Amino acid sequence: MRDAEINNSSRGQDAPLRASGNRLTREQARELLARLDSAIAGFRGRACREAMVKFLNSMVPSYSWVGIYAVEGKDLVLDAWAGPAATEHTRIPIGKGVCGFAAKAGRTEIVSDVSKDPRYLQCFLSTKSEIVVPITDQGVVVGEIDIDGDQLDAFSSLDREFLEAVAKKASNVWT
Ligand code: SME
Repeated sequence: MRDAEINNSSRGQDAPLRASGNRLTREQARELLARLDSAIAGFRGRACREAMVKFLNSMVPSYSWVGIYAVEGKDLVLDAWAGPAATEHTRIPIGKGVCGFAAKAGRTEIVSDVSKDPRYLQCFLSTKSEIVVPITDQGVVVGEIDIDGDQLDAFSSLDREFLEAVAKKASNVWT
């Protein structure tokens, strides 16, 4: 986990949130959504998604790797990512992996221990848990946010709520 320990508005808008037991708090989630609006203001499409993944990866210590995939035909194609390394999974068939499952089902998937989930496609040895949040436009899945965590059980229902709100923002400026 990165050494991030700032949650004080006097330290500025670009300061990462303090790690609080490695879990997002409701207050942090609220603050992050407001800061995200500033970070993506004026951007649309891919430029917006690039800004989003950078923001999430740099601001939330438990979000070790953050990607946004876009639906292209029967596949998910990696569109923007931020983290320590590139993934080999730049194209995932819908229905395959945790990513493909979430896209097919159209609902958020939280995997608290990836070693116990037979659907999991490994990207990084360090990954212990994962959350995948579909991005929809009028009920149709157009993409998804995929986040890897280096801790077991890194994602709670609050992360789900927060990232579903982020997904809505991504959908509003998808093209
Ligand atoms: N773990 C994902 C593949 C994408 S990587 O995490 C970047 C999956 O099981 O679908």
